[in-house]
Amino acid sequence: MKQIRTVKGTHDILPKDTPKWHLLESIIHDVCAKFGYKEIRTPIFENTNLFLRGVGAETDIVSKEMYTWEDKDSTSLTLRPELTASVVRSYIQHSLGNQSPIQKLYYIGSLFRRERPQKGRQRQFHQFGVEAFGSGFPEQEAEIIAIAWHILVKCGLSKQITLELNSIGSQKCRLQYRQALREFFSPHLTELSETSQKRLNDNPLRILDSKNELEISLVKDAPKISEYYSKEDDSHFNDVKIFLKEIGIPFIINSRLVRGLDYYTKTVFEFTSVDLGSQNAILGGGRYDGLVEKLGGKPTPGIGFAAGMERFLIAIEENKPKFEIQPPDIYFICLDESGIKISHKIANKLRENGYRVICDMLRKSMKAQFREANKLAAKYVLILGEDELKNHTVELKNLDNGNQKNIKQKNIIEFFSNLKN
Ligand code: HAM
Repeated sequence: MKQIRTVKGTHDILPKDTPKWHLLESIIHDVCAKFGYKEIRTPIFENTNLFLRGVGAETDIVSKEMYTWEDKDSTSLTLRPELTASVVRSYIQHSLGNQSPIQKLYYIGSLFRRERPQKGRQRQFHQFGVEAFGSGFPEQEAEIIAIAWHILVKCGLSKQITLELNSIGSQKCRLQYRQALREFFSPHLTELSETSQKRLNDNPLRILDSKNELEISLVKDAPKISEYYSKEDDSHFNDVKIFLKEIGIPFIINSRLVRGLDYYTKTVFEFTSVDLGSQNAILGGGRYDGLVEKLGGKPTPGIGFAAGMERFLIAIEENKPKFEIQPPDIYFICLDESGIKISHKIANKLRENGYRVICDMLRKSMKAQFREANKLAAKYVLILGEDELKNHTVELKNLDNGNQKNIKQKNIIEFFSNLKN
């Protein structure tokens, strides 16, 4: 019969790899807690309108990459392609802004985009991200970027990443800039790709991050958005740069950085990594002061970022290849069928007291069970044979030095806790 395999662009995360995920997740939880951010979890699918309105109907993510279907009651539903819109929906739905003027949230979850799979690009992938609501001040940018920086440093990645920073100004500034770009590119219309010709009308800013050689050379002479900043845009962005310098986070200004989602305003940023090839964006984000209002909430400033966890793990592995699965503390060898229940009872007590204990499930021979204990690199084996059963004891063997000791079953927890102290 034909084997059923994973769908294109999706991957199993096998037991040999889960320790890396646990490590990354524990770093995320730890750093976010240090900054006072609380975890939020939202559903995997949402009403399609959330992404049409939130992310923008013309963006690649929404127009080309969403997994959308009509439910039995004719509602259009979509597997979430990103999490900012979902978090904003939840923020409005649960009136989180009434609980505190500042809401600081983070998340870890899987997302779905129907992209062409390649290294660092899947159709189901995982992101962690943070979103902060309520502050329009530049210190909020500094805090959000500092969280990203701390996580990157803890993952050992600070040397191979670059923080690219830009401001795409306020809405008024972008309206004028869009018009300037239209005027600049119009005489070159025939030189532009089909996608860019379409973008010239809808969102000419996206032509700036084109990967097409000819367009890259055209863009070099295009007007710069900084020429259109209002006084406030300019001073806000300057303050962001000063904050980052003050807290010691290195960055470069990339005036072509515009990001592919429609909700951004003012500061945008990306961390790129040399280890990732063409999909080099490991983390991206920015300010989205109009999004809460656009999705039906009160006008509320917001800013955040999200990072591709698979991309993080690729970059970590390039630099620090050792992630070890924790070996068991104890391998329990039971040699007598009548002792299996007792061995499980003792093993569970040990686990309740914090020890990692493995029991044989195949009723194998003593030799085979010893082999397994060595293979798993257990520190101790406990043996329950006929004599031990009769005497209510267990035989303990230290696999590091071969020392053996007979211990009363009722004293076993005490014995191990004395070893610890
Ligand atoms: P994004 O740039 O679309 O932003 O995605 C953020 C990160 O997710 C990327 O930098 C990349 O590491 C990862 N990523 C994106 N697509 C894929 C894929 N197909 N396979 C693997 N990794 C991928 C957002 O999603 C915004 N919601 C970020 C944000 C939060 N802005 C403000 N708050």
